[in-house]
Amino acid sequence: MIQIPVSSSSHTYQVSINDSLFRHNFNDILDCFKKNGISRLAFLYDKNCRKYLDTLLAGFERASFPVLTYEFPSGESAKSIDKIYPVFSWLIEQGMDRNSGIAALGGGVTGDAVGFVASVYLRGVPFFQFPTTLLSMVDSSVGGKVAINHELGKNLIGSFYPPLAVYIDTDCLDSLAAREYSCGLAECVKHALLEGESAVNWLEDAAGDIMKRKPETVKKLLDSNIRIKAGIVQEDEKEAGKRAFLNLGHTFAHALEKHFSYSSELLHGEAVSLGLVAAVRLSVLEGLCGGDVLLRLEKLLLSLSLPIRKQNLPVDSLAEIMKRDKKVRDKSIHFVLIDRPGSPLSSNQVLPEHVLSAWNYISE
Ligand SMILES: NC(=O)c1ccc[n+]([C@@H]2O[C@H](COP(=O)([O-])OP(=O)(O)OC[C@H]3O[C@@H](n4cnc5c(N)ncnc54)[C@H](O)[C@@H]3O)[C@@H](O)[C@H]2O)c1
Repeated sequence: MIQIPVSSSSHTYQVSINDSLFRHNFNDILDCFKKNGISRLAFLYDKNCRKYLDTLLAGFERASFPVLTYEFPSGESAKSIDKIYPVFSWLIEQGMDRNSGIAALGGGVTGDAVGFVASVYLRGVPFFQFPTTLLSMVDSSVGGKVAINHELGKNLIGSFYPPLAVYIDTDCLDSLAAREYSCGLAECVKHALLEGESAVNWLEDAAGDIMKRKPETVKKLLDSNIRIKAGIVQEDEKEAGKRAFLNLGHTFAHALEKHFSYSSELLHGEAVSLGLVAAVRLSVLEGLCGGDVLLRLEKLLLSLSLPIRKQNLPVDSLAEIMKRDKKVRDKSIHFVLIDRPGSPLSSNQVLPEHVLSAWNYISE
């Protein structure tokens, strides 16, 4: 089992990674609940992860540990007030108190929404993450950001609420659709661009084995990406500085997702992939990095089955949506740009025509 400690301002938690972790390391999971004084657990799970829940439930049953379950809806629209309100009613009806824990089993949607519920229910109850998509394993389950969306924008209602532990069973990836798997890889490419040359080289070399989901390569991918993300969020938990670099590509991505109404026409990771191309194109236009970095990025994204262009994007309206992003401060948009891999910077001084040109670049 790989274990990665992550420090937050309130506590340090472990991210544990293993194949068949829910079976082989069940006693470690149980010990963690007991050590944290949890006497009852509510598992909120994505229905597409039922079989992984059953593996865990078998363990809890053997240990006679009380667990309640709630099927949380799938899809980005589940990150809404409407969908979490009944969860609060259920928790209250079940008499869940401060000694009760809340666990999220599912992808980033489940983790973000259930984490938000845990952060405000009774002013905060112990929270555990069991991420089941590649994106949630390498990104959203680490760092403590939890949120739901508002119709005016994504992740606008949320808090910083680190989990007490993160448990990653790599077997969960077996059932993950190819398209969703690639979405997780978009965040890995972003991490590599932030980390530097050697991380980009490794992704380029390992791309074939990553796409074949070779177990040892996947574990290495998880290990390195969680360490990159943990390294950044430990230095700047509340996004006062360095953590904002994790938004590389996301200002464009969030506008795209909003435009496509968070639908399956463009998944989050696909929007991130397009957003990375636009952000690096903008970096080139601003004279920061060479066109070779952009070409290399596009080749890498294509090798991971990720999109680098989208047909007929309404660039003017996307530029307008972008102005409403929650990262807009003092009416100016802060873009994360790069000089070269490993050298990001933030700028609110980019030329509007360069932004439009970056949008046009990713629109076919
Ligand atoms: N909190 C953060 O720091 C952070 C970081 C990045 C992204 N996010 C958020 O994460 C969300 C995207 O997460 P996601 O890509 O995991 O999406 P998701 O949770 O919607 O999962 C994608 C799809 O895969 C299904 N699924 C989940 N696990 C499965 C499995 N093991 N086998 C088969 N199907 C499975 C789900 O039902 C869903 O249909 C977005 O809302 C984004 O804003 C948050």
